[in-house]
Amino acid sequence: MNGKVALVTGGSRGIGAATALRLAADGFDVALTYVQGKEAAEEVVRRIEALGRRGLALRADSADAGEAAEAVERTVERLGRVDVLVNNVGVGVLGPLESLGLADVDRVLAVNVRGVFLATQAAARAMGEGGRIVTIGTCMTQRVPGPGGTLYAMSKSALTGLTKALARELGGRGITANIVHPGPTDTDMNPADGPYAAGQTELTALGRFGTADEVAGAVAYLAGPAATYVTGTELAVDGGHAA
Ligand SMILES: NC(=O)c1ccc[n+]([C@@H]2O[C@H](COP(=O)([O-])OP(=O)(O)OC[C@H]3O[C@@H](n4cnc5c(N)ncnc54)[C@H](OP(=O)(O)O)[C@@H]3O)[C@@H](O)[C@H]2O)c1
Repeated sequence: MNGKVALVTGGSRGIGAATALRLAADGFDVALTYVQGKEAAEEVVRRIEALGRRGLALRADSADAGEAAEAVERTVERLGRVDVLVNNVGVGVLGPLESLGLADVDRVLAVNVRGVFLATQAAARAMGEGGRIVTIGTCMTQRVPGPGGTLYAMSKSALTGLTKALARELGGRGITANIVHPGPTDTDMNPADGPYAAGQTELTALGRFGTADEVAGAVAYLAGPAATYVTGTELAVDGGHAA
C-alpha cells in the first residue's frame, strides 16, 4: 500500500477511528474528518504517524454540502492523491414516526445521504484505476426488528442503491464500490452498556456486541489486495443480526 492514500469520514472516534488506524497499519496514509473532536482527531493522527504513515485531520462537516466534497479535494491537495474513500460518517435519529420533525429529516438525509453522495462524487473524480469506495450502512437495512427506525433505515438503505449503481458506473474504470452493514457495535453512538444494549444483543446470533475493530477489519479487506474482484456487494458484520 506504500504511497496509497485513504480518506475516512468521521474518523476521530468509533468505527471510523478504528478503520483509520487499521488502514494505516495496512500501509495507507490516512486522512480523516471530524466536526467536534479536534483533540480526538489529532490523537488518531498521532497514532497513524506512530505506525510510520502520514495522517491528516480535517474539520469537515458532512452536513454541509461544500465541506463534504472539499474534504476529498483537501486530501488530494495535502496527501497528493486519494485511492480509498470510506464513507463512515452517519447520524442516527430514532423514534416514533410522528415524533420526527423536519429538522431531523433534513439533518439525517444531509449527513447520511447527501454528504455521502457528494464525497463519493468528488472521490470518483480524483481516483484512478484500483480506487475503492467503501460505505458504512447498517444491519437495519436488512432487518428492522422493532419500531423507531424509519428515518435512519431509510437513509442507510439509500446507500445500498448508491453502492450498486456505483459498481456499475465505475467498474469500467477499475474502481470498486461496496457497503458494510455493521450490527450493534460498541461505540459512543451505541455503547454496549447503553439502555438499548440488552435488546440488541439478544437479536444477534453470537449474543454480543461487535467491536469497532471487527468492522474495521471488513473495511480493510474491501480496501485491500484480496478484494480486487469484489464490487457491488453488501457485507454484513453484524454477529448474525440478519441471520
Ligand atoms: N455503532 C453502531 O452500533 C452502528 C451500527 C450500524 C451502523 N453504524 C454506522 O457506523 C458509522 C460510525 O458509527 P459510530 O458508532 O462509530 O459513530 P460515533 O461513535 O458516533 O462516531 C461518529 C464519528 O463521526 C464524526 N461525525 C459525526 N457527525 C459528523 C459530521 N456531520 N461530519 C463529519 N464527521 C462527523 C464524529 O466526529 P466528532 O466527534 O468530531 O463529531 C466521530 O468521529 C455510522 O455511519 C453509523 O450509522 C453504527
